[in-house]
Amino acid sequence: MEQRILGRTGRPVSVVGLGTWQLGADWGEVEDKDAVAVLDAAVEAGVTFFDTADVYGDGRSEATIGGFLKDNPDLDVFVGTKMGRRVDQTPENYTLSNFRQWIDRSRTNLGVDSLDLVQLHCPPTAVYSSDEVYDALDTLVADGVIRNYGVSVERTDEALAAIARGTTASVQIILNAFRLKPLDEVLPAAKAAGVGIIARVPLASGLLSGKYTKDTAFAEDDHRNYNRNGAAFDVGETFSGVDYETGLQAAREFAELVPEGITTAQAALAWIIAQDGLSTVIPGARTPEQARSNAAAAGFVDQADDMSDAVAAIYDRHFRATVHPKW
Ligand SMILES: NC(=O)c1ccc[n+]([C@@H]2O[C@H](COP(=O)([O-])OP(=O)(O)OC[C@H]3O[C@@H](n4cnc5c(N)ncnc54)[C@H](OP(=O)(O)O)[C@@H]3O)[C@@H](O)[C@H]2O)c1
Repeated sequence: MEQRILGRTGRPVSVVGLGTWQLGADWGEVEDKDAVAVLDAAVEAGVTFFDTADVYGDGRSEATIGGFLKDNPDLDVFVGTKMGRRVDQTPENYTLSNFRQWIDRSRTNLGVDSLDLVQLHCPPTAVYSSDEVYDALDTLVADGVIRNYGVSVERTDEALAAIARGTTASVQIILNAFRLKPLDEVLPAAKAAGVGIIARVPLASGLLSGKYTKDTAFAEDDHRNYNRNGAAFDVGETFSGVDYETGLQAAREFAELVPEGITTAQAALAWIIAQDGLSTVIPGARTPEQARSNAAAAGFVDQADDMSDAVAAIYDRHFRATVHPKW
């Protein structure tokens, strides 16, 4: 699979990575052996980047990855984790001493002395312009407990603030056919500054696979049930913030654009990979088959390249008015 340098980390990572929120919680039950099978299928298919967070299953996702990498010591997988959501997201919680505690826990879970990449996990906007926060992160790099730091943002203005700092290695942001705003300024600014872009929620929580209908039922403990209106966290993280019925209609229109021989989900991922400035896209997978199919999307970028005008037309029709001003 094609590898791209992940911004200021200087490390090559596969253009299709693996999102591992699914291996923790919030997507219905996943058995341990199935979680390991997903990791296994992803690396077999050429994935060299895992995205996780200390809160996914309260550490279960990190620990599953740590166990998997311990059992497979020859693998060279780059792991990005996140911190900051085990307490209230208020600016005063983003201190060096809290960072140390959170990082120590992630190092234990992942079984490493030094974290490859730690991302601030959607902190309050003020944190992105706090000198103290960046000083603390620099201290942790100097101490050798993390190698790189980046941010995972909700909004494009937050991404631009983080990119403007000279030391941010990567920015994780929602980018998919239903969320086009990062293409306006964020990807060009990141490319110019040498900052990596990690595209999350690339399938709009599965909508862009084209497999759901108005009758699809999601489990009680699946955020696509309980956070559909943003009751638990930013609604942008569930179906990338679009109204479900509107998303279904737009997904049907997207499916009509899909070239012969590839799936709708693969077209959605390949179209993201084709965007200038993109480093890696991190679809979440609940089964080994999904992980394999998503990794294969890296081979279909040429086919998806000319979908952009039609994708923009779908966005303008259904989402621009509601999505563009919000994130
Ligand atoms: N704040 C943050 O920093 C943040 C927030 C959200 C996500 N993330 C990261 O980004 C990753 C990706 O985002 P996401 O998982 O929320 O959303 P996503 O990747 O857009 O959607 C994942 C869902 O799409 C479906 N899917 C995946 N591959 C498929 C395939 N090949 N064919 C058909 N359906 C497929 C599955 O749904 P079913 O379960 O219905 O099969 C899967 O659970 C996460 O795992 C996490 O690592 C970070």
